[in-house]
Amino acid sequence: MSNRFVRGFPALILATIGLWVVGVAADVDLTEAQRAAIEERIKPSGESCLQGDGACGGGAVAVVATGPRSGEEVYQAACAACHDSGVAGAPKYADAAGWVDRVAKGKAALYESGRNGLPGTGMIAKGGCVSCSDEEVDAAVDYMLVSIQ
Ligand code: HEC
Repeated sequence: MSNRFVRGFPALILATIGLWVVGVAADVDLTEAQRAAIEERIKPSGESCLQGDGACGGGAVAVVATGPRSGEEVYQAACAACHDSGVAGAPKYADAAGWVDRVAKGKAALYESGRNGLPGTGMIAKGGCVSCSDEEVDAAVDYMLVSIQ
């Protein structure tokens, strides 16, 4: 007998016993009343709300990402807090004058700033959005640049 078999054997026996116990339990005959009682007990779980369907009555629910977020979505979630109002001198959305010097650096430099931040300023890497991919941050930069065209 190989070592692996010797070690696996007790587990195999336990698994077999477990299956047998489950099998026996499943065989138990229920009366109509018992069956109805069980159905009643498990019913609420089928009627419970799903996150995000509005039935929970809760507030904002985390959006389950189904693909890359759009520039606008990322902007609203991670950039607007500073770039809407110009916190700490952030160039404002749709404020062409505020962006002139920055646009002059070229788009690649602005993507770089979005992804990695500008050291020593309020512009932190990805605006602090740790779940944002580099491409999503680029899209948010594009979204701001389109606003000043
Ligand atoms: C906590 C505030 C804050 C958040 C959040 C923030 N920014 Fe900024 N951002 C700034 C500030 C402040 C500056 C100006 C920095 C400077 O040059 O002094 C700036 C500048 C920039 C620039 C110009 C960089 C350059 O090289 O001139 C870009 C591009 C930018 N932000 C993109 C973004 C994007 C994209 C997001 C969201 C993913 C974001 N920012 C979120 C504060 C913020």
